[in-house]
Amino acid sequence: MKNTLLRKKSISDMLGQSSKNGLKRSLGTFDLTLLGVGAIIGTGIFVLTGLVAATTAGPALIISFILAGIACGLAALCYAEFSSSIPVSGSVYTYAYATLGEVFAFLIGWDLMLEYLLAVSAVATGWSAYFQSFISGFGIHIPKALTSAPGAGGGGMVNLPAMIIIFLVTALLSKGVKESARVNNIMVIVKLVVIIAFIAIGVGYVKPAHWTPFLPFGYSGIIGGAATVFFAYLGFDAVSTAAEEVKNPQKSVPIGIIASLFICTILYMLVTLVLTGMVPYQHLGVDDPVSFALRYVGLDRMAGFISLGAIAGMTTVLIVMGYGQVRISYAMSRDGLLPKFLSSVHPKHKTPYVNTWVTGLVAAVIAGFVNLKTLAELVNIGTLAAFTLISIGVIILRKTHPSLNRAFKVPFVPVLPALCAVFCIYLATSLPAMTWKVFVIWIVVGFLIYFFYGKRHSILNTKEK
Ligand code: ALA
Repeated sequence: MKNTLLRKKSISDMLGQSSKNGLKRSLGTFDLTLLGVGAIIGTGIFVLTGLVAATTAGPALIISFILAGIACGLAALCYAEFSSSIPVSGSVYTYAYATLGEVFAFLIGWDLMLEYLLAVSAVATGWSAYFQSFISGFGIHIPKALTSAPGAGGGGMVNLPAMIIIFLVTALLSKGVKESARVNNIMVIVKLVVIIAFIAIGVGYVKPAHWTPFLPFGYSGIIGGAATVFFAYLGFDAVSTAAEEVKNPQKSVPIGIIASLFICTILYMLVTLVLTGMVPYQHLGVDDPVSFALRYVGLDRMAGFISLGAIAGMTTVLIVMGYGQVRISYAMSRDGLLPKFLSSVHPKHKTPYVNTWVTGLVAAVIAGFVNLKTLAELVNIGTLAAFTLISIGVIILRKTHPSLNRAFKVPFVPVLPALCAVFCIYLATSLPAMTWKVFVIWIVVGFLIYFFYGKRHSILNTKEK
């Protein structure tokens, strides 16, 4: 019997299919870099930073950011090589289909759905925190029961603002990529202005004494911190999920990924340094640490301005994460591994609209009822698994397809990709046991769906007959 589990999609077929699809090719390198920055800077820097500084890493948070940045940088190189050689929709899922085989591709796609879907929910929760911080400046307070998930403390029942913003973003995405990219570009610029303003103004209030003790939680605090703030870097991979809608993907996708990650790493290091220098780390465990730091030094008006920028910033993350999630399930459905309705394209807007609304609905319900820390840790484990597999995929693809045209090549293969895999696994081991349990359950469910649905409906079945 032929081994169907490890059957692979032919790369030339995929490139052919991609050129025939119904999606519009409307994005350029600049759009993609902004799409990347838009996906990266969000809840991680605006919310998790404070939480991790206060409880896990202390002022050494900057080292956690550097470590997490290195892991993502290595993964970004692997993403860039794949996306420059196989520029089709579906991100690492598609790459795995060409290199590791169908069952692995399915599991990676399934794993990425955990990343993107829960990232939408997690970011909406951060959005909700800054939204409340902003309107409280005008004396408006929504009851706690309606603004946080159960279990987050303070009698929360449902996070209504988080659910509402997800519905608004879903409506935007279902209308079409060009509209979304345009809104995204404007909001990313607002976000960059706000972050740079925070660094420039905050630096004047830094007291170096706040950086001592630098390592209050020791070395393990730095690693634990890195495993959590890793979340702050996610999003650059969403650039590769847009490959089928890019005018010149071979060139634009690798540049977009690497440029956006580089810009964000520099900004994060500066924000972390300024934040822990302005406020003693013990006080930073609040929902809106960046605005809080400004209020702490008496700059209330500026704090309001920052909240507004953070709200815009997190909206762009929602757009890109929602976009990524839909494109991956679209690609899987088009391949027959998930039901067909997920890949039906709207005749006028040319978007997978049914899929977009299903995604929005599920993400909204999760955002309403699960707290941020749990969500962020689950997103991280899903992503670390995907990064590990893609680095292994780079090594395999070099062996199986040595002459494939690669516009971008990872240097020092197999050493760099192997290092990336080891580093990601190391970070994942410091995530809580509960996170691992949910992750394993998610993967087992995926496995069942593959065996009872995907394997039978795969379009590769018809090709093999
Ligand atoms: N990197 C994204 C954020 O921090 C997911 O919101």
